[in-house]
Amino acid sequence: MTVHGSSAVVLRAHRTNVAQPPSSLLEVATLPPQEPAAGQVRVRNLFQQVIAANGDLMFETTQIPAPVFRLGEPIYGGAIGSVVESRADDLPVGTVVLHMSGWREESILGPGEAFPVPDGVFPGPEYLLNQGVPAYHGIVDIAGVGDGDVVLVSGAAGGVGSMAAQIAKARGAAYVIGIAGGPEKARYLVDELGLDAAIDHHNDDLDGRLTELAPDGITAFFDTTGGPQFEAALRHAAFGARFALCGTLAGQVAGGDGGHPRLDIMTAIVHEVQIRPFTTLHTPGQIQAWNTHYAQWYAEGRIRFARTLLEGTLQRAITAQDELLAGVHRGNVIVRLASHDDAATVAP
Ligand SMILES: NC(=O)c1ccc[n+]([C@@H]2O[C@H](COP(=O)([O-])OP(=O)(O)OC[C@H]3O[C@@H](n4cnc5c(N)ncnc54)[C@H](OP(=O)(O)O)[C@@H]3O)[C@@H](O)[C@H]2O)c1
Repeated sequence: MTVHGSSAVVLRAHRTNVAQPPSSLLEVATLPPQEPAAGQVRVRNLFQQVIAANGDLMFETTQIPAPVFRLGEPIYGGAIGSVVESRADDLPVGTVVLHMSGWREESILGPGEAFPVPDGVFPGPEYLLNQGVPAYHGIVDIAGVGDGDVVLVSGAAGGVGSMAAQIAKARGAAYVIGIAGGPEKARYLVDELGLDAAIDHHNDDLDGRLTELAPDGITAFFDTTGGPQFEAALRHAAFGARFALCGTLAGQVAGGDGGHPRLDIMTAIVHEVQIRPFTTLHTPGQIQAWNTHYAQWYAEGRIRFARTLLEGTLQRAITAQDELLAGVHRGNVIVRLASHDDAATVAP
């Protein structure tokens, strides 16, 4: 069999500040041909996941507990692909798999690196490219959301937040409020994701809307942004409210208003607010817990896969990364990969 080089997205320079769009530092390159060894498979990628944390992994160092992208090498990330050549008995040609070696036209995967996508559970394999694991962990294990809760979710139209807000509803919360940027996203939260109310952080008065929507205070908060939205949530916390701190988008994006909110300690003390930052390490238990509930709630019509599905090449995925950080898209951002004739240069 003739093996041709295949294209991949390579980091050409580290990011040094959040104002730099990722696309200015990434490029599509042709990798040398590689053949699967015994136990490995060659996968042709069909869908690429795009997430906010990729921007952080482009810095030389980051506090995110994942390996940073290495200079001059292909980056990595969640993808779905189809096995096109197999030297692994358990993964025959044609198996559709989920894996973390994306941002490539083709990936060579060894034992424990490719997870077959179950048939018939979701309408398409891309439904597994969601950020439900941290959303579920934060809402259920950290904030303990359940019957009767009044829940606030920041970044609620984003990848993690859209799942977190719906999980809160599925867990029996009495009232779920999402914060998102712009009237169109706010409408989306209520009309399409079934939240009880939405606040547009570009145009609404956060305090005024929270007073109106949650007069007795919020009992749980899932925070993906930090910054002013965290500060407002604390001002409206009910006694004993549980805060699950997931992300700091306000500090991860160009022009953001800072991921380091001021903590009004006296308000936290008086209201005995339980503030729990968390990191999701995607343990097998966390993945299993989410996947079980996702399949069940999806089948019952209680949760939707909030997503933006784009079409294109790896170059389109690079552009999508810029767009995600700029707030252009909503839900989990996925690129359905078309042909890969966009390789421009030869990698070292
Ligand atoms: N703790 C964990 O275990 C864990 C795991 C995974 C991810 N995370 C974190 O979770 C967060 C969400 O990740 P994601 O991939 O789902 O990203 P995302 O929410 O899809 O990120 C894009 C969104 O950020 C929002 N945004 C942009 N500028 C903002 C600003 N100044 N203030 C508030 N929001 C702003 C925009 O939404 P609007 O247009 O609606 O403002 C945009 O659509 C990130 O901080 C990520 O690092 C944490």
